[in-house]
Amino acid sequence: MSQAPHSLATRLGRLLLPNPILVASGTFGYAREMDGVINLSRLGGIVPKTVTMAPRVGNPPPRTVETSSGMLNAIGLDNDGLDHFLDHHLPYLRTVGCPIILNFAAKAEAEFPQMAQKASKVEGLSALELNLSCPNVAGGIDFATRPEACERAVRSCRDACPDLPILAKLTPAVTDIVAVAQAAAAGGADAVSLVNTFPGLVIDWKRRRPFLGNGVGGLSGPAIKPLALRCVWNVARACPGLPIVGIGGIGCIDDVMDYLVSGASAVQMGTVNFYDPCAAIRVIEALPEALATLGVATVAQAVGAACGWKPQG
Ligand SMILES: Cc1cc2nc3c(=O)[nH]c(=O)nc-3n(C[C@H](O)[C@H](O)[C@H](O)COP(=O)(O)O)c2cc1C
Repeated sequence: MSQAPHSLATRLGRLLLPNPILVASGTFGYAREMDGVINLSRLGGIVPKTVTMAPRVGNPPPRTVETSSGMLNAIGLDNDGLDHFLDHHLPYLRTVGCPIILNFAAKAEAEFPQMAQKASKVEGLSALELNLSCPNVAGGIDFATRPEACERAVRSCRDACPDLPILAKLTPAVTDIVAVAQAAAAGGADAVSLVNTFPGLVIDWKRRRPFLGNGVGGLSGPAIKPLALRCVWNVARACPGLPIVGIGGIGCIDDVMDYLVSGASAVQMGTVNFYDPCAAIRVIEALPEALATLGVATVAQAVGAACGWKPQG
């Protein structure tokens, strides 16, 4: 049974998306690479690769390595800087016909509002995603490991850019992700993006050294799905009313439905784009039937459908 197209729409605070399937930062370039491979206008949104205020060369190679059921990366935020993004990538991204969410990271707290303010002055962005959690850059992880720092960073961006919705992207490498999510909400985030990669290591024992040039890296892909899903579940149950974007190991429609019923209002697909770039479109096409199977007519009705569950006894 197919549903009317509007039934796929979903809301993240002030951000309304045509459907809940987005592509994750760092796994989709600046989208040009994928033009011609898929119809970009059908996506719920594109989150381009993280940009920083100044250009960065990133980490020494190798920067990625395959693992069983996932991959480890330590790119180190290689990018040409915010001005270059606004001048060279945004004009193209504006034309693709789906929401564009600027993802940025700051190396010091004061940079967050500066970047948000710059972004507030340009046309063509639907929202900001604050990368508070890049695991492979010195200092980069600190903003989302301490609730106070997270709240301050979000609030400063919210003040500097009051008109754009803000998503706070968090690291799973904390004892209590609920506390950090609550801090993001207190700072004024419209939603939290859960989660970035999990810290990991691939070692080359014969060469007596880590495989990646950076040593440690971030794990992504199918291996992390149950871990990321738990973060979504815990935050959804503890923070009703705080919209969540679920991220981690999503490759097929069942993965998407798992995240929706666990409390995510939208999802981002990451590592799958490297080995199956059409996966996001396939999932969008499969969504109406999956909603019907669940017995609901809209994405909104699926969100958190399992969250009322309680253990027996
Ligand atoms: C090669 C690679 C590069 C990434 N770069 C970024 C980045 O620049 N900014 C960011 O917020 N997340 C980045 N991520 C994390 C993803 O956006 C996503 O949070 C993570 O990979 C989990 O989703 P997945 O299991 O579907 O890949 C990167 C992930 C990979 C695999």
